[in-house]
Formats: sequence, structure tokens, C-alpha cells
Amino acid sequence: MLKLGVLGSGKGSNFRAIADAIARGELDAEVRIVISDVASAGILELARARGLRAEFVEPGRFKTKLEPEAELRVVELLQNAGVEWVVLAGYMRMIKPPLLAAFPRRIINIHPSLLPAFPGLEAWRQALAAGARETGCTVHYVDAGMDTGEVIAQRAVPVLPGDTPETLHARIQVAEHALYPDVLRTLPGAGVTGL
Ligand code: GRF
Repeated sequence: MLKLGVLGSGKGSNFRAIADAIARGELDAEVRIVISDVASAGILELARARGLRAEFVEPGRFKTKLEPEAELRVVELLQNAGVEWVVLAGYMRMIKPPLLAAFPRRIINIHPSLLPAFPGLEAWRQALAAGARETGCTVHYVDAGMDTGEVIAQRAVPVLPGDTPETLHARIQVAEHALYPDVLRTLPGAGVTGL
């Protein structure tokens, strides 16, 4: 069984998709802890409502990364919870060496584009602005760069005439909610293979 630690800053719909897949018996995994850098994040409420351990870690003075002490606290929480795989689900900060070193090739992220196209913030908006006819989502290993780690799997989504950033993001999120549990099923320890 996969022992997961989930990090998120937002509403937590990808976390919910993963937790639902576990609850339905479609994914042999257990969420050991959910951690957020945002005290009011929906992801923490969702986790608590499911009886899961949910922790807010005060991020400190930086906007794009955790203060080193905060990141060490995250590492400690993950390790004490027995986490083997760190799953980023709408986590809005860069991952730095202490966390990367504690979980080498064991941190994955979902990004709302077909990487390497449109890394960074609001990738769906970038795709619209570029006039792309297709975009999608990517699950990838996390490295020290921004959305640069090795790609594990992708799912394409069409850009439709009349799309707004909101309609496109919503379509991408539907694909994300299927892709993330599918990818987790293929990881070593999940007991099931094949996408
Ligand atoms: C998703 O679109 C994900 O790709 C991006 O942040 C968003 C998180 O949404 N990294 P949610 O919090 O899982 O609903």
C-alpha cells in the first residue's frame, strides 16, 4: 500500500479525487497526512472531514518557497507520519533541497498543461493566450526547477471555441482528477500496474 503525504495550498479537488479513489477501493494507498501553507485552505477542511491528519505549517516571509525552518518542519511531519510518496496537489511553492533530499524521486506534482509547454502559474490562461488548440495536464517528478521534472504521464484536453480561462481550467481539472489516481496506481508499492 502506498503511504502518501499530500501538500496543497488551495481547494483540494485533486486531493479529493485521490481520497475518493482510495475509498472506492480503486487505489491501494493511504493518505497519512495533508499539509498546507495556507491555514484556511479547503484541502485542510476536506482532509479533516475525512478524519485524516491535517496540518498547517506557517510558511514564513517568502512568497514562492517555504522558510528553511518551515520546510524542515514539513519534512519532520512527513517522516513522522511514515510517508513514502509526497503528492503535490495545488501546492503553490517551490520545493527546496531539504525536502527534495528527504524524498529523492518520491515527490510528484500535477500541472495543468502538457509540459514542457506552459510551465508556471495559470497555465490554462497561458494556453488560451498562446492560441493553443490543445492543452491538458501532466504528472511529473519534482526537481529543483519550476515544473521541469521528468514527466510520468499526460492527458490531453481540447481548447474549444469560446473558452474562457474558467471553462478551460474546469475541463483540465476533470482530466486531472482521473489522471492523478491513474498515475498513483502505477507507482512502486501500489500493487497495480498499467495506465
Ligand atoms: C490544479 O489545476 C493543479 O494542476 C495546479 O493547481 C490546481 C490545484 O487545484 N497545480 P486543486 O486544489 O487540486 O483543486
